[in-house]
Amino acid sequence: MITLTVTDREGKTHAVKTTPDGTLMEAIRDYGLTDGFALCGGHCSCATCHVILDEAVLSLLSPVSDDEDGLLDGSDHREAGSRLACQVPLTAKLDLADVKIAPAD
Ligand code: FES
Repeated sequence: MITLTVTDREGKTHAVKTTPDGTLMEAIRDYGLTDGFALCGGHCSCATCHVILDEAVLSLLSPVSDDEDGLLDGSDHREAGSRLACQVPLTAKLDLADVKIAPAD
């Protein structure tokens, strides 16, 4: 079991306890933060699963793919820590990670 601290679009913080499998998007969605989130179901085509991660978490992840990069470029809210949660494998290394859901575009 791992715990993520997820901040939703209204600024409310949630302690998301989950098993380290699947993707970060699935953990957030299955917890119940579904309002306008992950609308394509994880097919890397909607960018509604845009999240902001801190540098320590980013360093644990594989680089952004060209498809992910293109979708993030279309966001008005892209930051250095931006990722698409459906492209982030949920591993035990992400235990205690802070995850902020980006504002909707
Ligand atoms: S769920 Fe659509 S791009 Fe991630």
